[in-house]
Amino acid sequence: MVVPQVQEVAAVAKLQVKPMSYLQTTQDVYKQAALLPDVGLCCTTTPIWQLPGLKIPIKMQQMNYGCGSTVNPRDLVNEPSVLYVGVGGGMELLQFSYFSRNKGAIIGVDVVDEMLLACKENLETAEKENSWFKSDFITLKKGDALSLPVENNSIDVAAQNCLFNIFKIDDLEKALSEMYRVLKPNGRLVLSDPVCETKMPAELLNDERLRALCLSGAIPLKEYIKMITDVGFGSIEIRAKRPYRILDPSHYNTSNLVYIESVEICAIKDPMPDDGPCIFTGKTAIYYGKDGFFDDHKGHSLLQNQPLSICDKTAEALSCLERKDIFISETTYFYDGGGCC
Ligand SMILES: C[S@@+](CC[C@H](N)C(=O)[O-])C[C@H]1O[C@@H](n2cnc3c(N)ncnc32)[C@H](O)[C@@H]1O
Repeated sequence: MVVPQVQEVAAVAKLQVKPMSYLQTTQDVYKQAALLPDVGLCCTTTPIWQLPGLKIPIKMQQMNYGCGSTVNPRDLVNEPSVLYVGVGGGMELLQFSYFSRNKGAIIGVDVVDEMLLACKENLETAEKENSWFKSDFITLKKGDALSLPVENNSIDVAAQNCLFNIFKIDDLEKALSEMYRVLKPNGRLVLSDPVCETKMPAELLNDERLRALCLSGAIPLKEYIKMITDVGFGSIEIRAKRPYRILDPSHYNTSNLVYIESVEICAIKDPMPDDGPCIFTGKTAIYYGKDGFFDDHKGHSLLQNQPLSICDKTAEALSCLERKDIFISETTYFYDGGGCC
């Protein structure tokens, strides 16, 4: 019999006590949420999109683990190819395929086998309940958001809902770079995620389960936008920002209230402008002077008393003019298309 040396035994013991990574904890949380729907696990104030002729199976609704919506008809003209990372119960995959009704048009990626299986079963139910829908519109793939099993420059619309907030900063940077890599030029990353302007107490920040439940990984919106533009996205649209959760001292390990919001963002793989990204946070300019219009000779024409959506760079440039006949609204976090840039 070969007796293990003391050093070997110590090495094995060390291996056994190695703490699980937060990514593994996350997978365990979503394995459970796949085996038994956890209604309200994430959940949002936005109602579930209803579209003519679309029936969302009950179990898919119970497994709505998103914190907003990433499905916006404006992004989905001409039956785009769609990549959806972190499939959950498949509800948004079904909603995306409403707009891209071709075999293999949509790819769904998830790292948890049980979630992929639950999603597949839900899509089979959806096929029975929706005459227009074929489950082969969607290809489900096992894979990791941090290393996507998808070709470079091959996707029109890449989406994730309530997954990236779970990642620590280095991994978030990887996940965003991966989305950038797979998108075609001018392709769109659409995402919904919690953000938090309050400093997250260390006890919560280091709680892997809370992080996996999308409660303690949220970062401030400005930091999130900077990370998105740092990987190269030249245009950003903030489409919504809503109250999401309160972490309070009687339920969580915190001495102060932590207020969390959820945002919906579209980041476009446009070339980066020389003077930095165009970030639309829902600001509007209105010219109310004596002339018919105001022209800044930088491509922005403001018609008398007509609102024009402007990006934050243009808002800054117009305010610097200190004119008494241009009104610039506060950020509304509701950008709905059109405008400058
Ligand atoms: C909060 S749920 C969101 C599900 C879905 N997006 C929705 O809105 O209902 C997170 C999803 O990401 C998956 N997931 C977790 N870690 C992942 C990773 N590293 N790569 C890909 N998917 C992951 C989980 O299995 C789960 O399906």
